[in-house]
Amino acid sequence: RNRQHQLEMQQLIGTFPMFAQVDENSQEELLLLFRPKVASPGERVIRIGDRGDGMYFISSGAVEVQLEDDPVRLQAGSFFGEMALLSGGRRTADVIAVDFCQFLVLERRDFNVFMSKHPALRAAVSDMAKERKAMNVSR
Ligand code: CMP
Repeated sequence: RNRQHQLEMQQLIGTFPMFAQVDENSQEELLLLFRPKVASPGERVIRIGDRGDGMYFISSGAVEVQLEDDPVRLQAGSFFGEMALLSGGRRTADVIAVDFCQFLVLERRDFNVFMSKHPALRAAVSDMAKERKAMNVSR
């Protein structure tokens, strides 16, 4: 493996500690599956009511999830867009970039295949989705 590749791997794990729990081969697989995407301040990344096309990992920048009262800010190291993929339903909120952002996108098909091979990771993502939903109903 070349140096550049090793750096990419270190950066991936450094930014997203949740990937430390998957084995090295699967980390390699993720690097191949991720589709890079960028957004500018003010850009709508996810539209409420749309079908879920992918899950977004924030490599840099920040977004706001537009919830009823206060928006929730998510930054580098966090993810969003997991709910519609887990439920097979629609996007539950608008998500707006508040910075220049770089994302790594796991498309729906890749999400399904990868998560079925990594139940512990799926469970971690699913727990976070449950926490978020609970937070939303109590607002
Ligand atoms: P999804 O419904 O696919 O698209 C909108 C996303 O906003 C949702 O997935 C979550 O990733 C995110 N989201 C919804 N509620 C919250 C919350 N309370 N905190 C953080 N993120 C949230």
